This record gives sequence, C-alpha cells and structure tokens, in this order.
Amino acid sequence: MPLSPLAEVIVRGLTSAPKSLPPRVLYDERGSRLFEQITTLPEYYPTAAERGLLVASAPTIAERTGMRTLVKLGAGVLDKSRILIDAGLARGTLTSYVPVDISAEVLMKSARELQKQYPLLSISPVEADSMGEWAIGGLASPVVISFLGGTIGNLFPRERVDFFRRMCLAAGAGNYLVVGTDLVKDVDRIVDAYFDSQGITEAFLLNVVEVMNDECGLGLSAEDFDYVPLWDARESRMDLRLRARRELSLNLPGGSSTCRIAEEEEIRIEVSSKFTREQVCAELRAGGATVVEQFDDGDFALTLAVVDS
Ligand code: TRP
Repeated sequence: MPLSPLAEVIVRGLTSAPKSLPPRVLYDERGSRLFEQITTLPEYYPTAAERGLLVASAPTIAERTGMRTLVKLGAGVLDKSRILIDAGLARGTLTSYVPVDISAEVLMKSARELQKQYPLLSISPVEADSMGEWAIGGLASPVVISFLGGTIGNLFPRERVDFFRRMCLAAGAGNYLVVGTDLVKDVDRIVDAYFDSQGITEAFLLNVVEVMNDECGLGLSAEDFDYVPLWDARESRMDLRLRARRELSLNLPGGSSTCRIAEEEEIRIEVSSKFTREQVCAELRAGGATVVEQFDDGDFALTLAVVDS
C-alpha cells in the first residue's frame, strides 16, 4: 500500500538527523481540538492579545486600505475573521472574503458559518496548505492578506522571508499584508505559555505520538516520551520537542527499514519565534513590503504593510 503524504513526511522526519517533524503532525482532529483549548488557557496570552489588537485597529486597517478583498491564511478562529470583516463592511468597501486552509473540513465549516452571518459577502474558500506552497491570484484590489496567530514565528528565518514574498506576490503591488507576531518578553511568561498548568499543551504535543501511530502503525505509546519545551535564547524562540524516555526501535512502513531512537534522543516538532518590532519591519521589507503602521500592546504586535512596486 502506498504511504499517505503525511506518513511519508513522518518517515522522512524520523530518519533525518537530527530528528524533526513538521508542525502539521500536530493538527489532526484531536490535535486541532486541543489547540483550540490552548487558545483559551490563562497562560496562553497571544490569542487574547491579538484579539484586543484587532478590535482596536480594524477600523484603521479598513480605512487605510479601503479593502475590497480580505484573504485569511488559516481559516480557524472565526471571531478574528469577523472583527476584520465587520470593519470592512462598516466602511462599505469589503465585498469578498477568501479563507485559505489545509483542511477542507475546517474550511467548509467556517465558510458556511460566515455565509449565514454575512449573506451578501462573496466567500471563496481555497483548499491549500497556507504554510506551504500556496498561490492565489485574480483578487479584486484593494486586497488585504492576513496571517494571524503568530504563525509566521513557526517558520525559520529564511522561510519567513520567502513566505512574505509569497504573500506579496498574491496581494500584488500597492496591496496590503496584516501579520500577527508574538514579541520578546519575560522568558518565564513565554515558557508558561507553552507549558500550562493543566497539561493541555503537553497533551497537544504528545498527541503527535498518536498521529505517528495512526499514519505509520508504529505502535508507540505516549508514555515513551516526555514533552520538552525549551527556550532558545540565542534564536529567541521556543523549541518544542519530544524526548524518548527509553531506547525505541521502530519498524517503518513502506519497506523493510527500521529506525532507532536512543534514550533521551529528542524529536523537534515546532519552533515558535518571538520578535522585536524592528525585526518584523526588517523581515517584511526583505520580503518586499513596507510597514504602514504597527499596533502593539507590549506582548504581541499586529503589523500593517503595503506591498512594494
Ligand atoms: N502558532 C502558535 C504559536 O507558536 C502555535 C502553538 C501554540 C503551539 N501553542 C503551541 C505549537 C504549543 C506547539 C506547541 O504560539
């Protein structure tokens, strides 16, 4: 039986050195539910911070851009979409909403819900991995492409600039980007945001073990791993890993290959970078956009930029 694309990615990650898996292994159905729970945890400040910034800045964003088309990369967290949609409708310019998501199910569910609430808005969902090689064109200007949740911080520096380039290309010169980024701050608060007292984040990471079993039939147990949230001060990012509690020997699918995980060996699942305001401006500039305005509350920043010609 041919391997699923996700299984292939997992096999590649487990056989590379050092071992690492891409963030999408986190978001199966159970993982997506756990992540939703994370966004409501007292320790996980970014969601509430960004929501507050959106409420405060959406009228300004709508006014500055005159947006006709709003694109949202990642279709989840509907209340954030609504804040921007409401502002665009209140100004009378917004006619079209384009959610982009890797999960057809999430996409359809959110489109259906929003269409009910906004019957006159034209909603055109795009099924694509918004963290990967997506491309969209033919959008009616002025366009605003939003990438919220601090998700840009889950990419590595070079990938981030490529990502901004892709956003600029899709929006077109003179159109706009809105990007949410978590800011550097007291390290304890950052670490707590990824190591909550209820153990939800730990369960979210350990769910990757179930995903590996489901996709590759590895027969692992969550008990085989510890969740390790490391703060990497040099790179200014959280580095989220699973560490093997004992030596593990795996039979990989799709051939006769095996894989050994040493005791205490770590598998990196995701990084989450924390930015300075200036760094966000510099990376956007490197990707081809100039910052128009930055909104921040000290914890989180929302940056509006215009695509260079
Ligand atoms: N984009 C989110 C972030 O970097 C994703 C996230 C939140 C996350 N909590 C997590 C990823 C815990 C892995 C583990 O903040």
